[in-house]
Amino acid sequence: MKIKQYLSNIIPKELHSLIPNSYDLIGSKKGQVAIIEIPQELENYKIKIAEAIKNIHKNVKAVLRKKGPRLGEYRLYNYEILMPGETDVIHKEYGYYLRVDPLKMYFSTRDAKDRIDIANSVKAGEKIIYMFAGACPYAIAIAKKQPDVQIIVAIEKNEEAFNYMLYNKILNKVGNKILCINDDVLNVCPFFDNYADRVIMTLPLISKDYLKLGIGCLKDSGGILHYYKIVNTDYTFNEIEKIVENDLKESRLNNFKILSFSKVSNYSPGKAKYRIDLEIRKKF
Ligand SMILES: C[S@@+](CC[C@H](N)C(=O)[O-])C[C@H]1O[C@@H](n2cnc3c(N)ncnc32)[C@H](O)[C@@H]1O
Repeated sequence: MKIKQYLSNIIPKELHSLIPNSYDLIGSKKGQVAIIEIPQELENYKIKIAEAIKNIHKNVKAVLRKKGPRLGEYRLYNYEILMPGETDVIHKEYGYYLRVDPLKMYFSTRDAKDRIDIANSVKAGEKIIYMFAGACPYAIAIAKKQPDVQIIVAIEKNEEAFNYMLYNKILNKVGNKILCINDDVLNVCPFFDNYADRVIMTLPLISKDYLKLGIGCLKDSGGILHYYKIVNTDYTFNEIEKIVENDLKESRLNNFKILSFSKVSNYSPGKAKYRIDLEIRKKF
């Protein structure tokens, strides 16, 4: 049953249009956590909304309400706990498992298609640097879909996320394919100069500041960089291209080609997270 239908006799009619149409469910049959945005006008009904979600989805153990945008270096939401319960869950997508806890680390089910798209493009023998790795979902997706990948170096600063990263590689039996490092990319990446065939930079708001560092990790002969950025949804390909070109030029990089760009998920009204795939040539 849909949440609006469930709440139709509980919430007054004049507020029905404000009832959220959707919410995120992280986890599996063994336990799920639901994450919802509730407008201020429905403040008095927030617990009824949480109860409705729990009744519709019998596996839901906890209901969290997003309050404001993601904050801080670790990109965490400020959650109001509407229904307390287990938030440490095992999420399943495209045949692999991800143990995550949204209270402790960044994780979004909305990035699932992006993960599998990248995983499907990786070739046998590749060496990959995965900056800003969180609980390591992109590395798990790649190692499961391309078992002949040589190595994925996953770098994450948040110690809690790092611990889940270690768990996830064992859970998915890909331990020999992922090297997990708990540190700042600023400290780690210089050790991987001229190393990788591919670099993944999943920090859209400020990845621009790390472009030079990420590109430094690519082999001198060149490679692929997955660059993430928040841009206006009404921008054309040409406008996005210009923005990316400026970012690269500010980092004094001229030898690149934009291969493609794709919308990953909505970010805020009028803005979305995009992935821009770049082919970088460092030397000719
Ligand atoms: C947007 S999240 C993406 C996490 C993960 N890749 C995913 O898709 O679920 C960015 C991650 O980068 C981490 N982070 C931020 N600044 C960092 C830095 N300077 N060095 C290493 N990790 C960093 C944050 O803790 C956060 O987990």
